[in-house]
Amino acid sequence: MKERIDLLRREVEKFGSQAAAEVETFRVEMLGKKGKITSLFNDFRELAGDQKRDLGKPLNELKKFAQEKINDLKNTAAEDRDQESGEDLSRPANFTKLGSRHPVSLVKNEIVSIFQRIGFNVSSGPEIEDDWHNFTALNFPEEHPARDMQDTFFVNREPDWALRTHTSSVQVRVMENNQPPIRTISPGRVFRNEAISARSHCFFHQVEGLYIDKDVSFADLKQTLLYFAQEFFGPETKIRLRPSYFPFTEPSAEMDVYWGLENERDYRMTKGTGWLEVLGCGMVDPNVLKNNGIDPDVYSGYAFGIGVERMALHRFQIPDIRMLFENDVRFLEQFKAAY
Ligand code: PHE
Repeated sequence: MKERIDLLRREVEKFGSQAAAEVETFRVEMLGKKGKITSLFNDFRELAGDQKRDLGKPLNELKKFAQEKINDLKNTAAEDRDQESGEDLSRPANFTKLGSRHPVSLVKNEIVSIFQRIGFNVSSGPEIEDDWHNFTALNFPEEHPARDMQDTFFVNREPDWALRTHTSSVQVRVMENNQPPIRTISPGRVFRNEAISARSHCFFHQVEGLYIDKDVSFADLKQTLLYFAQEFFGPETKIRLRPSYFPFTEPSAEMDVYWGLENERDYRMTKGTGWLEVLGCGMVDPNVLKNNGIDPDVYSGYAFGIGVERMALHRFQIPDIRMLFENDVRFLEQFKAAY
């Protein structure tokens, strides 16, 4: 018996293989139900007491030795397999990348919340509009060159359908369905058939505002816009209004904020004036009120339209509007901590 133990021990010592299948075969051969070492234990049970005393220890040691050797070989076989497949088992499991809000959404939400704080509600409408809501109700006369101000994408299916060129169309829908007082902002995507460049795109986002009530004056408009500019750009912000033209407002204006002229970039951004053009606005034209069933002798109102991308470019110092729409994760990831 002692010889068989020594023989098997040498056999285990000699055995060496990296292949998992071979190691397993060897394990069955030695330690399986009918394995060589297992059957030694069966024989051992038949032995006389004093022999058991002598042989018990070496037999147990043999079993332990074989088990350890087989386990070691199995582990190296497993490691080799991992290295072959290039997996790193020490990597944390199930790591999921968290997304973040898009910079346009961040700025849009901020603008919306500034106006919600002074009592504006939020309205929305369809992106495909008919001529009435996008143009005619807003006092764009038929065949009038003012329609060229907003290069339109037409939808061929219906003669008067188009992608909305501004969210003023939503304000028409609000006026149709509500009597004053109306105080609403309409955030949304708009479309214009413009050449794509660093400064303009064929679609972008607006937040347009509309306030209609008794005795609404230009002073109310100016004060509201000053509040907005100081909330968005900082409490010291200065604004100015320049006369402008829109078919749906009279008088109309464009608002600039003072940006400064400290360096070359400021020159470029403000075209050398120090002022940054931010939004269009004006008093709602009486024709627009009439078109929508509101009596212009009783009510007056103001409206304004803010371009969200332009505000986002300023807020985050982004040099090119196209970056906002390329969906490059390396760009979008940078806004994780923005708010
Ligand atoms: N709708 C105008 C535009 O898209 C902006 C605007 C809104 C101007 C309201 C005046 C009043 O350019």
